[in-house]
Amino acid sequence: MTAFHPALIQLGVHHRPEGLSDRVAYGFVKLLRFCADTFFAKRYGHRAVVLETVAAVPGMVGATLNHLKCLRRMEDDKGWIKTLMDEAENERMHLMTFIEVAKPTLFERFVVVAAQWVFYLFFFALYLVSSKTAHRVVGYFEEEAVISYTHYLAEIDEGRSPNVPAPAIAKAYWDLPDDATLRDVVLVVRADEAHHRDVNHGFANELAGLPTGEVAPCPPHAELQPNWRKAA
Ligand SMILES: [Fe+2]
Ligand SMILES: [Fe+2]
Repeated sequence: MTAFHPALIQLGVHHRPEGLSDRVAYGFVKLLRFCADTFFAKRYGHRAVVLETVAAVPGMVGATLNHLKCLRRMEDDKGWIKTLMDEAENERMHLMTFIEVAKPTLFERFVVVAAQWVFYLFFFALYLVSSKTAHRVVGYFEEEAVISYTHYLAEIDEGRSPNVPAPAIAKAYWDLPDDATLRDVVLVVRADEAHHRDVNHGFANELAGLPTGEVAPCPPHAELQPNWRKAA
């Protein structure tokens, strides 16, 4: 088995929208993309901080609602709950990493609070109405995340964003070498997003009765312990 390398992931994976549910999900994500592009332009650090606060919501909502469903129906979750909780934790670690790279403005902090109110309630309701559409939304969301982090890499490689040393929290979480840089961090984050993309499109497919497809491997993550920050 060859070792995992975060640069060797499938970048251009796209689920072609089929049917109303997929089209609604795709249209919604494209609208959000337009808003994000307009608001952040090329401020990729700020973009990452704000969008990761949103990206960490669906996994926890999906985990909660699947947990409750399994309790009601007294049935097995087929591993979905842990997968979705891992996704939420992973997205929160993206946030904890990028907050070390870019500090949000006061206005961005306001946007984060407002967006959480709206998005949490919206996504919760969507998941209740159609978990298939909800997972498809996340799949498309993650397709866009892979594209955005690829743009961020180009910014770094072309010298428009400084390739600063990797934050300590990122080195501990992804087990990166001591001399790791922001570029290494963006690569592993992008690989995480590709993994979420395939997992969520796979869940949507499973709910639609379609073949689930391949899932990009995710980089190894440190187990978070209660006192892990001290150990880092
Ligand atoms: Fe993320
Ligand atoms: Fe993600």
